[in-house]
Amino acid sequence: MDALPEIVFSDVFGPELPKLQRLRRRAESMRASGQTIQHDEFIQALNKSRSELITRRERHFQVQYPALPVAEHHDEIIKAISENSVILIKGGTGSGKSTQLPKMCLEAGFSANGLIGVTQPRRIAALSISNRLREELQHPEWVGSQIRFYEDMGPEAEIKVMTDGILLQEYRHDKFLHRYSCIILDEAHERSLNIDILMGVLKGVTERRPDFRLILTSATLDTTGLLNFFPGAPIIEVGERVYHVEIQHWNWDAPALVHLGPNASYVEQMAECISAIEQKKPDHLLAFLPTERDILETKKILEQGLSERFEVLPLFGRLAPNDQQRIFHLSGKIRVILATNIAETSLTVPGIAYVVDSGLVRISRYHAASKVQGLPVEACSQASANQRSGRAGRVKPGLCIRLYSQEDFEKRPEFTEPEIRRSNLCNVLLHLMALGLKHPENFPLPDPPPITAFKAALRQLHELGAVGDFEWGTQLTREGLRLSRLPVDVGLAKVMLEAKRQGVLYPVSVIAAALSVADPRIWPSEEPDKSRAMTSHGRFKDKRSDFMSYIRLWNYLVEQWPEDASLSSLRRLCQQDFLAFFRVREWFEMLEQFCRLLEIPRSRRLIEAQEANYDAVHMSLLSGFLNNLAQKKKEENAYRLSSGREGFLSYSSNLYRSRPEWLIAGEVKQTGRIYLHTLAEIKPAWVEYYAAALCNR
Ligand code: CDP
Ligand code: MG
Repeated sequence: MDALPEIVFSDVFGPELPKLQRLRRRAESMRASGQTIQHDEFIQALNKSRSELITRRERHFQVQYPALPVAEHHDEIIKAISENSVILIKGGTGSGKSTQLPKMCLEAGFSANGLIGVTQPRRIAALSISNRLREELQHPEWVGSQIRFYEDMGPEAEIKVMTDGILLQEYRHDKFLHRYSCIILDEAHERSLNIDILMGVLKGVTERRPDFRLILTSATLDTTGLLNFFPGAPIIEVGERVYHVEIQHWNWDAPALVHLGPNASYVEQMAECISAIEQKKPDHLLAFLPTERDILETKKILEQGLSERFEVLPLFGRLAPNDQQRIFHLSGKIRVILATNIAETSLTVPGIAYVVDSGLVRISRYHAASKVQGLPVEACSQASANQRSGRAGRVKPGLCIRLYSQEDFEKRPEFTEPEIRRSNLCNVLLHLMALGLKHPENFPLPDPPPITAFKAALRQLHELGAVGDFEWGTQLTREGLRLSRLPVDVGLAKVMLEAKRQGVLYPVSVIAAALSVADPRIWPSEEPDKSRAMTSHGRFKDKRSDFMSYIRLWNYLVEQWPEDASLSSLRRLCQQDFLAFFRVREWFEMLEQFCRLLEIPRSRRLIEAQEANYDAVHMSLLSGFLNNLAQKKKEENAYRLSSGREGFLSYSSNLYRSRPEWLIAGEVKQTGRIYLHTLAEIKPAWVEYYAAALCNR
C-alpha cells in the first residue's frame, strides 16, 4: 500500500488548509479500507499552497553565501540549473558543494514546484548538512531531514536532506517523484549501489518530467563515465578547498619510532602517531581506522597515554545518533576523534587541524566461491585517501599524516571500485525488483553488468523462490520481498529465513558467520606441529558434517573465553589451540553483525545439543546453498554439482573418506580442479523439497 506523504498541517497554508484537510481525510479513509492511494492530486494541491507561501515570503528574503569556491560560480550555476535538466558539479573537498548548492536551488525558485531534495550516502552526513543549512539560512523551519527511524520535516520545509536509501523508498511509491522539483545527488563519486541505482532512477525521472532537475556533485568525479551516462550535461568545475592541507607520509624508520618494531599492529602505530603529534603541538585530530574494534582498542591505548586535556571520541556507524553528534560539540578539551570511513565524506568536524589516515578500510566484497558477502579490511583507494585528508583544512590550514609510504599510495587504485562490481548480482536484481522494476535489462545503470549475468541472477532468484518465473516481467514472491529486506547476500538471507522457520536461527548464524570469514583453524605443514594441530582440531570433529565442527569449536571458545575476559587471553587460547586469533575475532564480529541485523538478542552464548538439531540446521543451509549441492558419481572418484560440473572433496574434510551419496558444500573453489570444502551429508528427500526447480526426475 502506498504511504501517505508525511505532512504536518498548520495554518501556514492559510486558505488552502480546508481543502488539504479534506484530501487528507479522504486519503485516510481509503487507506483504512485497504485501497491504493493515488497521491498525485494530493501532492499537486500541496505544491500549490507551498508555492503561494514562498511567493509571500520571497519579498523579504535574500540568500547569502559565504566566500567559498562554489559561491564564486554562483551565476553560472544558477543559469545552468535553469537551462539543463542534469548538471554535474566537480569541486575539491570543502569547496561548498554540499552546503551551498541547496541554497542556490532555493534562490532559483525551485522550491515553488516541490521540495529540493538532497541525498547523502550516510546518516551522520545527512544530519550534519541539514544542521548547517539551518544555521546558514537562519530559518531552521525551511530545512527538513529524514534518515531511517528519524524524520524532522516541518510544514514549511523546502529543502529535504536525506539518505539515498530514503529517496529510493519513496520512489517505490511514486515513480515520478512528484514531491520534488529537483534532487541534488551528493557524493556521486562514491558509487555505492544505492547511488548507482538512484542515478538510473533519476535519469528516468528527468526523461519523464521536463520540469525536474538533477544535480550531481562530487569531489573526485570520474566525469568521462558519467558524461556517457548523462550525455550533454554541462560540467561546472569549481576551485579547490579554502585552506592548505600538508600531506606527510609517516616514516617508520625514523629513530623515534623504531622501538615499535616491525611487527607493531596498525592500531599500535596509530596510537603512537597520535601521541607523537599531540605531544608536539596539541590540536583537534581526526583519525581513520577500518573497524569498530580497532577504534575501541586505539581509544584504550590513548586514554592511558594522553592527559586530562584530551577527549577521545569514537565514531562509527553503529554508535547511537546522539553519541555520533558528540563530535560536533566543542567541550573545551582537545578532541581526538577515531572514526571509520563514515567520516570520510561530507562532514566538517569543527576545529580539526590534523588527520591521521591508517590507509585501511573495511569494504564489502562478494565472494562468488563461498557465496558470501564478506567485509575484508583492505587498502583504501587514492580517492578515498584524498577525501580523508580533505577533512583537515576545512576551517583552518591542516596537516594529514598517512601511516603508509608515498610509493604505497601511488600503487593504489585511483578510485574505489563501484559497489555493483563487488556485489552479488542476485542482490542487485532483488533490490531493483523490490523497487518495482520489472525489466532490469532495460534499466539504465552507469556500469551495467552483462545481460547474461543478469539472466543467471534471475535464474538463481527463481531457484531460491524469490520470483515466480525466470522470464523478465515476473514479480517478486512474498519470500522474495522478505529476502530483499535482509541486508546480507541472498543465499545467506534464504538460509537465515529458513533457519528462523526451523527454529535454529542462532546455531545457523554461528555457522554462517564462520563461513563468511576465512577458516579460523591453522593447519601447519611441518611436524610435529602438524600432528598436534590435527589432534587439537580433531576434538571438534563431527562424522556427518563439517558445519557441526564449527558449532563444537564455537562452544569450546565460548566456554574457555568468557564474555568479560580480555583479548589477550583469547590470543593465548588461540595460540595453544592452533587457531588464528584474527580470524576468530572476525568470526565473533561477523556474528555480532548478524545478530544485530536479525535482531537476535545475544551474540555470544553456548549452543545446547538439542538446539542445533541436525536436520533443521542442514535443511536451512541447503535451502540457500542449492548451487553447492553435490551427488556422488557412480564410476569415478568425483561428485556432480547442481550446475552439472564435476567437483572433488577437499582432503581436510571429515567426510573425505565416508563419501556420502548426497552432500552440500559451504564453499566451492576452483584451484585447477573444482574442490568442495566444508561438507555435510544430507537426505535426498530434502533435495526434492528445496530444489524442486532443479530436479530432473
Ligand atoms: O561539500 P564540500 O566538501 O564541497 O563542502 P561543504 O560541506 O559544503 O563545506 C564547505 C565549507 O563550509 C567547509 O570547508 C567549511 O569551511 C564550512 N563548513 C563549516 O564550517 N561547518 C559545517 N558544519 C559545514 C561547512
Ligand atoms: Mg560535500
